[in-house]
Amino acid sequence: MKTVYNFNAGPCVLPKSAIEAAIEGLKDFRGTGMSVIEVSHRSKEWAAVMDETRELWKNLLHIPDEYEILFLGGGASMQFLYVAMNLLEKKAGYLETGVWAKKALKEAKGLGNAAAIASSADKTYTYIPKGYTIPKDLDYFHITTNNTIYGTEIKYDMDCPVNLVADMSSDIMSRPVDVSKYAIIYGGAQKNVGPAGVAFVIVRPDVLGHVSRYIPTMLDYRTHIAGGSMFNTPPVFSIYVMNETLKWLESIGGIDAIHKTDVMESKMLYDEIDRNTMFVGTANKEDRSIMNHCFVMAPGKEEFEEEFLNFAKGRGMVGIKGHRSVGGFRASLYNACPVEAVEALVRCMQDFEKMHK
Ligand SMILES: Cc1ncc(COP(=O)(O)O)c(C=O)c1O
Repeated sequence: MKTVYNFNAGPCVLPKSAIEAAIEGLKDFRGTGMSVIEVSHRSKEWAAVMDETRELWKNLLHIPDEYEILFLGGGASMQFLYVAMNLLEKKAGYLETGVWAKKALKEAKGLGNAAAIASSADKTYTYIPKGYTIPKDLDYFHITTNNTIYGTEIKYDMDCPVNLVADMSSDIMSRPVDVSKYAIIYGGAQKNVGPAGVAFVIVRPDVLGHVSRYIPTMLDYRTHIAGGSMFNTPPVFSIYVMNETLKWLESIGGIDAIHKTDVMESKMLYDEIDRNTMFVGTANKEDRSIMNHCFVMAPGKEEFEEEFLNFAKGRGMVGIKGHRSVGGFRASLYNACPVEAVEALVRCMQDFEKMHK
């Protein structure tokens, strides 16, 4: 198998041990003589995977006892709708920090009164809005903690006078989080916690049951709480790989340990972006994401964009083209990204600069 450095924004690089375990589980799931995709989701062997996975989430993220942890199909995008369905009665507020935040807001608008409380659309979402006031009469305030496309991140747990809901798709498990500050945390698994096909939801049940609308059974969080995320057939394979991904995270020291690595790797790359005369970062420095690193050619060097992409490709770099809506480059350094990949990208940028001196 050829060696590549995978900077994809999600689906993305996963721990080797999780992939090995997935292969093993596809052949023989925990000694059952069946593949993990052949066993009944009602079997005791599968029930053990569900319990274990919830326990891993709980321990790694220090999730308080009163919260429920759900694994659902439909990705993070389906959660945009779930959140509004389950919480929006009178009014909801959203922090519009990018395309994903906007998509979440659209779903809420479709169901009732929802608006952006602040937005960074004026500067192509290159910063996190500050100095806004969260109205106290909102049912909830929705944030996207990491803006995958623009490389900005809210790196702290904000004080919020109303129920705080966070899409943490692309920075979950990269830093310690005070879960008690949130009513709901959700996201698609396909960055730091597993493959695509499953969304995680951490919900404090007391925020549910306060809306007057009919909630379709499958869109009601209470259905999935009551069913232990198995009201219907869960995405078994995705949950199985999530389980192995979280075991890997636990084995290397959990979130405190990975946070140090993430910060170190991120600094290596930003230092190079800032030093290198060929490139310039696009996100406001204080709001820079430690997961997604966005940069473009420096002014006057724009003509070299395609050349750099090809040069990097020749060095084994995968997935550094920026999102189609913003262009330029984006290197995503998720939890499983090895430091060798960051070193290789930094060398590649340095060599490209030397070639054009
Ligand atoms: C922050 C954020 N929210 C939501 C999504 C949508 O996720 P999904 O494809 O699971 O619906 C993405 C996808 O990259 C994302 O980065």
